[in-house]
Amino acid sequence: MAGKITVSVIKADVGSVCGHTRPHPSMMEKCGEFLADGVKKKTLVDYYVTRVGDDINLLMTHRNGEDAKEVHKLAWDAFMAAADLAKEMHLYGAGQDLLSDAFSGNIRGAGPGSAEMEFEERPTEPIMFFMADKTEPSAYSLPLSRIYLDPFTTTGLVIDARAKKGFDFEIHDVMDNKKVVMSSPEETLSILSLLGDTTRYAVKRVFSRSGIGTAAVVSTDKLNLTAGKYVGKDDPVCVVRAQSGLPSVGEYLQPFMDTMLVAGWMRGSHYGAFYPCAVDDSDPTYFDGPPRVCCLGFQLRDGRFQGLEPRDAKPGDHRPMDFFKGSEWDLVRRNSVKASKMVRGHGPFMPAILGPGEMEYTSRPAVLKELVRRFEKLD
Ligand code: F6R
Ligand code: MG
Ligand code: MG
Repeated sequence: MAGKITVSVIKADVGSVCGHTRPHPSMMEKCGEFLADGVKKKTLVDYYVTRVGDDINLLMTHRNGEDAKEVHKLAWDAFMAAADLAKEMHLYGAGQDLLSDAFSGNIRGAGPGSAEMEFEERPTEPIMFFMADKTEPSAYSLPLSRIYLDPFTTTGLVIDARAKKGFDFEIHDVMDNKKVVMSSPEETLSILSLLGDTTRYAVKRVFSRSGIGTAAVVSTDKLNLTAGKYVGKDDPVCVVRAQSGLPSVGEYLQPFMDTMLVAGWMRGSHYGAFYPCAVDDSDPTYFDGPPRVCCLGFQLRDGRFQGLEPRDAKPGDHRPMDFFKGSEWDLVRRNSVKASKMVRGHGPFMPAILGPGEMEYTSRPAVLKELVRRFEKLD
């Protein structure tokens, strides 16, 4: 079928079992019921409900474009219903990411994270969903830089004529609400000069410079700023299109074989190493982490998701590729635990904890207030 398709991922933590761990299956089922109804009413073409750690991720396709009110409302209603179930079951953090009581027309600014891209579906369209828990959007900056800027990671940048034309990066200043578009390969070093500051800059989108359209999009809705105070790291998603002039599936996965420290983890206030794993293995188990990253893959088929399920499966009924499931990732998982344990040795000292501006929890202002009379000027 011709015409543009929109892939939208909307995600939220609306409660989990025994701390900030894993949504109850009934919450995921409830979301599925809402999205199935969305297909019936033709708001959606297809969907898949999944999760990473305590975050429910709604993967959706439709023909309503980005920022479509009806799609955002559907996701909002699904999360509200899941939160109601969580409240009824006295689960932990029930409704925590739903920052208002009523839907105001767009999910952005309301608590959930979103990443959406509209594009012309190619005759064969591999698409991948990276989903992270206990971390923030700039956690993707290092791997995305390797994927789109580094020929020692993506050989395609050297030997695929279309990839060699380079990529445009839309970079967000998440503190000042500004954006800038920069072009690789010409501006590669300047792009890295910004992205190296993970407290301020994050990649929002990457565009092909050979006419393929959007290659990647990241959810960058900083929950802490949305709420006017720190109420949770975003636990971001990143959607990418692969192959034929874009990085290949394997080139996208390769950077995750290296151990990367990311901000978040316990109380959103620590550095820990990314732990790539299967969705089923994404429960935070060690010090509320380490920060998990999962990756699911599908083909698109006229706007429908096609995984390993039968060709005539119902919408929503999918079996995606689960890329970090295999034993080849055991090495980096072990390294992640080792690196995280090493950092933990610092307890509440930097660099185990984040800088003062980034801590999700802090008692410092209260402590300083108590000490205001006791602090004396040095001679
Ligand atoms: C991090 C996270 C957890 C909590 C921690 C304390 O994103 O969800 O590490 O921050 O378990 O949670 P509360 O304050 O709910 O006791
Ligand atoms: Mg949480
Ligand atoms: Mg989470």
